[in-house]
Amino acid sequence: MPVLRALSKVVKQTLLGSPGCSCQPLTVAVRNISFSPRQVTSDASFHSVSFSETDHPKVLITGGLGQLGVGLAKMLRKKFGKNNVILSDIRKPPSSVFHSGPFIYSDILDYKNLREIVVNNRITWLFHYSALLSAVGEANVALARSVNITGLHNILDIAAEHGLRLFVPSTIGAFGPTSPRNPTPDLCVQRPRTIYGVSKVHAELMGEYYHHRYGLDFRCLRYPGIISADSMPGGGTTDYAVQIFHDAIKSGKFECNLRPDTRLPMMYIDDCLRATLEVMEAPVDTLSMRTYNINAMSFTPEELAQELQKQMPELEVTYDVDHVRQAIADSWPMNFDDSNARKEWGWKHDYDLPELIQTMLNYLSSETRVARAN
Ligand SMILES: NC(=O)c1ccc[n+]([C@@H]2O[C@H](COP(=O)([O-])OP(=O)(O)OC[C@H]3O[C@@H](n4cnc5c(N)ncnc54)[C@H](O)[C@@H]3O)[C@@H](O)[C@H]2O)c1
Repeated sequence: MPVLRALSKVVKQTLLGSPGCSCQPLTVAVRNISFSPRQVTSDASFHSVSFSETDHPKVLITGGLGQLGVGLAKMLRKKFGKNNVILSDIRKPPSSVFHSGPFIYSDILDYKNLREIVVNNRITWLFHYSALLSAVGEANVALARSVNITGLHNILDIAAEHGLRLFVPSTIGAFGPTSPRNPTPDLCVQRPRTIYGVSKVHAELMGEYYHHRYGLDFRCLRYPGIISADSMPGGGTTDYAVQIFHDAIKSGKFECNLRPDTRLPMMYIDDCLRATLEVMEAPVDTLSMRTYNINAMSFTPEELAQELQKQMPELEVTYDVDHVRQAIADSWPMNFDDSNARKEWGWKHDYDLPELIQTMLNYLSSETRVARAN
């Protein structure tokens, strides 16, 4: 009996790690018995490339032609070198993007294609941006389930098998009507009501599970609604906060599809991309968690319109509520508590509402001037 108990203790320690160790307990055990997430028979660590070998990470961005990916590639290329950052998507890139650095076709539903790209390019960091966003996902649940859940499984397995550092963005949409909404902390009830939200909670949990089970270096930030000047949003509930600037400059009129008092957390794209790089570079021992809220500001359409009217007093804003988007927004956080990110790895936003408005107007009006001159 004591022998059996001792044996069971050894097995337990092998499977769960020693009591003092909170992460990477299973990497060695799993890989030594040739059992990877996809049951690859070779030693998975064979594929991983350490930083000292390359100086810079070799980066792959999936879903890179959306609102955020091109800006991310630009920032990472500045830091790590143009050829060390590969942008990928299933769409045809505009020529400016195609000529700005390596671009490759990659469908995240094609596991073998993904593996080939990672192996042939000796990828060490993966930013997984492919997704169907909240409003688009509700209009096509089967596709959203496939891209956001099956696609994520492919990414997790590839990342675990090849020793990659993996970033997956989550969202304010990972919370639901039963979550505390003002403010919403990192850890609380998460019962979202959209396929987008459900798939993002799944991504958070699966990433954290792979971290504990296989030692995957998974890092995740819950982004608020992201506002950008040079790229358009891909069908989310916070899109109005980008569209208002374009319509204000173009026609001086904007029709908002959310109620004037709908408060949602928001962030300017430069802050979002910088946070993404900072959490990827954060030393492991500063991260007590693998999924963090980040925030910059919180406003309603009415407050955004009023602040914008200080610069453009002639702007007319009307409201025609889209009930699908409104129901989604009403279940999301109003204010996001990102104190853990601030405390642990030094997150700090640069852009508040007045600064955001000035930056957007400067960018869009200079673009309009250039277009008129041509
Ligand atoms: N933009 C925001 O406000 C925001 C907020 C929170 C979280 N996020 C997250 O950030 C990430 C990037 O967001 P975004 O706004 O750039 O999204 P987007 O919708 O603009 O772009 C997503 C990209 O994924 C690509 N894609 C779709 N199916 C694919 C497939 N099978 N294989 C490969 N690529 C595929 C699309 O072609 C598209 O270019 C997403 O994961 C999103 O959930 C964005």
